[in-house]
Amino acid sequence: MSVEDLLSSLSGNRVVYYALYGALLFGVLKLTILGLSFGSMIFGLFILPPVNFKKYGAKQGKWAVVTGASDGIGKEYAFQLAKKGLNIVLVSRTQSKLELIATEIESKYKVQTKIVAFDASTDDDANYISLRNVVSELPITVLVNNVGQSHSIPVPFLETDEKELNDIITINNTATLKITQVVAPLIVSTIKKEKKKVRGLILTMGSFGGLLPTPYLATYSGSKAFLQAWSNALAGELKPQGVDVELVISYLVTSAMSKIRRTSATIPNPKQFVAATLRGVGRRNGAQERFATNTPYWSHAIMHFAIANTVGVYSKVANSLNFSMHQAIRKRALKKAERLAAEKKD
Ligand SMILES: NC(=O)c1ccc[n+]([C@@H]2O[C@H](COP(=O)([O-])OP(=O)(O)OC[C@H]3O[C@@H](n4cnc5c(N)ncnc54)[C@H](OP(=O)(O)O)[C@@H]3O)[C@@H](O)[C@H]2O)c1
Repeated sequence: MSVEDLLSSLSGNRVVYYALYGALLFGVLKLTILGLSFGSMIFGLFILPPVNFKKYGAKQGKWAVVTGASDGIGKEYAFQLAKKGLNIVLVSRTQSKLELIATEIESKYKVQTKIVAFDASTDDDANYISLRNVVSELPITVLVNNVGQSHSIPVPFLETDEKELNDIITINNTATLKITQVVAPLIVSTIKKEKKKVRGLILTMGSFGGLLPTPYLATYSGSKAFLQAWSNALAGELKPQGVDVELVISYLVTSAMSKIRRTSATIPNPKQFVAATLRGVGRRNGAQERFATNTPYWSHAIMHFAIANTVGVYSKVANSLNFSMHQAIRKRALKKAERLAAEKKD
C-alpha cells in the first residue's frame, strides 16, 4: 500500500483526524514558543536600553560587595559598579592588589571603598568574621559572588589532585554560600529601611562549565551546576523581600583563569563581558529556558540558546563534543608544560 493510499484510507477516520490536528497544533505551539523566546533574546541583547542602576541604589550612598575583585572579571565588576555610583567593598586574596585597585577606584570615580583580604580556600571562620566586621554597618544593596577557581588544566576526575578538588568546592561553593549569609541579610535590611524604594541585587558567576556537564573539568562543572540550583532557589526566597538574585552564565572570557589573552567573537575581555552583564541585569538573554538566570554576552547567549533548543545541555552529543574539546585542550596543555620544562633544563 502506498503512502497516498494509506492517507486516503485513514482520511475518514475521526481518531486519525483529531490526532493529526492535535499534532499540528502542538507543532505550531512549539514553534511559537521558540519564536517568542528567540525574539525575547534578541530584544534583550540588542534593543532594550541598559538597566538603570538607580533602582539598585546607585548615586544614593549605597554599597556593593564584589568578591574576587583583584583581577579579571571581578576587578571589572568593581570598576563598572563604581562608575555607576556605588561605593565598593573589594574582597579577595591579595591585600596589596586590593589596595592598588581601591586607590584607583576612589580617584577615578569619587566613591568610597573598603577592602577585605582572605584566602577563601581555607574556610576559616576568621574570614567571615573579618568580612562581617567591615560590612555590618554599611547600607549594602549589591553583592557580586564572582570569586571562583577552575582546574589548572583539564584533568580526568580520577587523577584530580585532592587539594585542587577541595579548593574548587570550598571557594566556588562553601565560601560563596557563607559570604552570602553575611551580606544578604544586610541587603534585606537596607531594602526594608528604604521601604523598598530601592531593590537589592545578588549576582553569582556561573559558567558554561556548569551549564553543560564537562568531562575533564568534572569538579568545576559540578561546582558551577550547584550554584545554578542554589542561586535559583535563593531567587525564589528573596524576590518577595525586594532582592533580585541572578546566576550569570559565561563561556570563555580572557583572564588569568582562562589563560586566554586574545579576544574573538566568542571570547570577550572582562570589560566587554561585565558591561553586557550590567546592561542586561534581570533579563535572561541566552538563558531563556531558565528562571533567574542570564547569559548576557551576545555570542555566549546565541550559543546557549542554540544548544538548549537543539541537542540539549544534558545530551550525549553535547557531552561527547565537550569531552573531545577538553581532551584536545589537555593534550596541548601537557605538551606546553613539557616544552617549558625542557627549556628550563637547557
Ligand atoms: N574567565 C573565564 O573564561 C570564565 C568563564 C566562565 C566563568 N568564569 C567565572 O568568573 C569568575 C571570575 O573568573 P576570572 O576569569 O575573572 O578569574 P581570575 O582572573 O583568575 O580572577 C580570580 C579572582 O578571584 C580571586 N581569588 C582566587 N582564588 C582566591 C582565593 N583562594 N581566595 C580569595 N580570592 C581568590 C583572585 O584573587 P588574587 O588576585 O589574589 O589571586 C582574583 O581576584 C569565576 O567564578 C569563574 O569561574 C570565568
